[in-house]
Amino acid sequence: MTKLIINGGARLEGELKVQGAKNATLPILAAALLTEEPVIVYNWPAISDVYNMLSILEHIGAQVEYEKDRLVIDTRRAQRWEMPDRLAKEIRSSIFMIGPILARFRMARFTYPGGCEIGSRPIDLHLRGLKSLGVNVTESGGHIFCEGRHLRGGDIHLDYPSVGATENLMMAASMAPGQTVIHNAAREPEIIELQKVINQMGGKVRGAGTSTIRIEGRERLNGFTYTCIPDRIVAGTFMVAAVVTQGKITLRNVIPEHLFAITAKLREAGAHITVYEDALTVEATGRPKEMHLIETGPYPGFPPDMQAQMCTAASIARGTSIVVESVFDNRFKHVGELLRMGANIVTKNNVAVIKGVEKLHGAEVKTMDLRGGAALVLAGLCAEGTTIVDQAHIIDRGYQAFESELRMLGADIRRED
Ligand code: EPZ
Repeated sequence: MTKLIINGGARLEGELKVQGAKNATLPILAAALLTEEPVIVYNWPAISDVYNMLSILEHIGAQVEYEKDRLVIDTRRAQRWEMPDRLAKEIRSSIFMIGPILARFRMARFTYPGGCEIGSRPIDLHLRGLKSLGVNVTESGGHIFCEGRHLRGGDIHLDYPSVGATENLMMAASMAPGQTVIHNAAREPEIIELQKVINQMGGKVRGAGTSTIRIEGRERLNGFTYTCIPDRIVAGTFMVAAVVTQGKITLRNVIPEHLFAITAKLREAGAHITVYEDALTVEATGRPKEMHLIETGPYPGFPPDMQAQMCTAASIARGTSIVVESVFDNRFKHVGELLRMGANIVTKNNVAVIKGVEKLHGAEVKTMDLRGGAALVLAGLCAEGTTIVDQAHIIDRGYQAFESELRMLGADIRRED
C-alpha cells in the first residue's frame, strides 16, 4: 500500500504551475461521446480519475491517444452502451457518462457508481432529470437500465444544485429534440466549461454559471478542442500549504475569480495574498488566526473540496474555528486522523469545533478520501516529527505528482509504494 512519509517543520517556499482541473476534465472527456469526430484535450491532469475515465471510454470502444500535453479521443467506433462495473465502481464521475451514452445510443446500462467515501452520494437527481427528458429508467440486481428511444427536451427542476446531475443532463439534453430548461442548476466554473465545449461542438447551451440553463437539442454534434482550466482545489490546497508551514508560495496558472472564497478565508486567517492576473502569492508568518465560520456550499460558496484542508489550518490556529459541512453527509473522516496528531476537534453531525493547538505531532494516519488525504499531508508538513500517510494512492486520484511538487517547495516528503 502506498505511503507518504513526511518529516514536518520546513517552511515551503517557491513557485508552482497549477495542474489542469480534474472536475472540468472528467465531464468534458465524457462529452467526447457526443460526437463521432475526434476531440483534443490539452493541459489534461495526469491523475488516476482521468486514466480511469479514459479506460471506460476505451471499454465502450473509443480510441485514445495519450500524448505529453494533449489527449486525442476518437469515439467513432464506440458501440457499447453499458458501463463496466469494475471501472464504474472506481470513480463516481462515471455517472456522467450516462447522459452522453444515452444521447449517442439512446440506451445505457450501469451499476451504482463508486468514488470517495464521503457520504451516501445518491444519484436520484440524475435519474429523475433523465425521466423528465422521456427516458425510461428501470433497476434490477444493482444495475440501472435507461431506455431513451423517446429522449426529448423537457423542464427539469433539481431539488439540489448537483454538479454531476447538471452536467449529465446538459449532455443528455444537447442531443434531445426540442428545448430543455434546467432550474436550480449548479453554478460551478466547470459547468461553464462544459457549456463552452458543447457550443463549440455546434450545440446551443445558454445560462451556465446561473441557476437556469437552457439547451436546444441537436441531431448531431462536431468534434472539439479544449484546454483544461486550472484546478481551483489543487490551487487552494497549495495555498493552505503556505499558511500551515508559514511559507511563501507563488501559484502560476490560476483563475483568481475561482478562488475568491478560499482567498477570503485565508486572509481572515492572517495570510498575505497578492493576486495577479493569472497567478497569486500566499505568504504567512506565524500561526494562522482562528476562522470564525467556514461553511461549505454550492459555488460560489466555500467549496466542500477545501473543507478538510481548512480543518488542518484551523487545527493549529490561534483560537477556535467552526467548520460546517453543508454539502455532504459524511465528510469529516479526516478529523479522527487529525486527532491522532494531537488536534483538538469536537464534531457533532455536520459541525466541527476546532480549538487550535500550538503544534501537531507526527503519527501514522490513514487516507479515507481524496481531499481528506491531502489535508493529512498538510498536517504532516507542519507537525513535529514524522507523519506516515497510508492509502496515499487515493490522493493520486486528484493530485498529479503531489509529493514531488511539495518537495520542490522544500518539503521533506517521500513516497513508499
Ligand atoms: C462534484 O461531485 C465533484 N466531483 C466533487 O468533487 C465535489 O465535492 C461536488 O461536485 C460538490 O462540489 C466531480 O466533479 C467529478 P454533487 P458530485 O452531485 O457531482 C447530493 C473531489 O474531491 N446528491 O454536487 O458527485 C450528494 O449526495 C470531488 O474532487 C443527491 O442527493 O456532487 C451531495 O450531498 C469530491 N442526489 C450533494 O448532492 C444526486 O442525484 C452534492 O453532490 C446527486 C447528488
